[in-house]
Amino acid sequence: MNLVILEGIVEIFLDTADIGAIERYKDFIDGVTTNPTILSKQENEDVQKIALEISKLINGPISVEVISSDFDDMVKEGESLAKIHPNICVKLPCTFDGLKACKNLSNKGIATNLTLCFSVPQAIMAAKCGATYVSPFVGRVDDIGQDGINLISDIVEVYNVHGFETRVLSASIRNINHFIQAAIAGTDAITIPENVLQQFFIHPLTDIGLKKFMSDWNKSKRK
Ligand code: G3P
Repeated sequence: MNLVILEGIVEIFLDTADIGAIERYKDFIDGVTTNPTILSKQENEDVQKIALEISKLINGPISVEVISSDFDDMVKEGESLAKIHPNICVKLPCTFDGLKACKNLSNKGIATNLTLCFSVPQAIMAAKCGATYVSPFVGRVDDIGQDGINLISDIVEVYNVHGFETRVLSASIRNINHFIQAAIAGTDAITIPENVLQQFFIHPLTDIGLKKFMSDWNKSKRK
C-alpha cells in the first residue's frame, strides 16, 4: 500500500495531534500534520501510538517529524516512523543533514515532508532531494516583516517552470486570509490549525439567511 495523495485539488490537512479535533473534522480533512511542539502538548507523548491512532481516523498523509539533528540518526528515525503506517510522511527540517536524509529516505520509497522552509533555494533543494512535500511557513515569514504568501507564489512558480513534482504544503497558517491567499497562489496542500478550520463553517450571513428561510417557511400556509 502506498501513501494516499489527493492529486489535482488542494489537500487540506489539520495541524494537530489532538485526536478529538481530528475525530471532529475527519469528514473535511485529507490528512494531518504534527510537529514536536504540537506533540509535546499531548498528554500521551508516545508518538508511535498517536500516529497509529490518527491513521485509524484518516486515510491520507500523516506528517511526523524526526527529532534527531544528524544525518545517520534522522535516517534511522525516519525508517522507524515510516514503519508505523504507509501514510506516514517523515518530516525533516530543511537543513544540510535534513536534506541529505530526505534524499536517502526518498530513494528508499519513504514519503517525506521538508519542514521549516523559508526560501526558494531551500524549496529547490527539497525537490531535488525527492521530497514528497515541502512546507513553507507563511505566518513565520510574516512575523519577520516579509510576505509569506509571496514565498508560496514563488515556490509554486519555480516548481511549475522546472516541472518539479514535490507538492507545496503551505504551513504556519494563522488566519482565513492566509488560507485563501495560499489557495489562490496554487498551493497543492495546506495545513491549518483547528481554530482556523472551525471558522470555515461559520458565516453571519449564512445564519441570518437560514433564519429568514425558516421563518418564512414557518409563516407560510404550506406547513
Ligand atoms: O505546520 C507548521 C506550523 O504548525 C507552524 O505554525 O503558527 O507555529 O508558525 P506556527
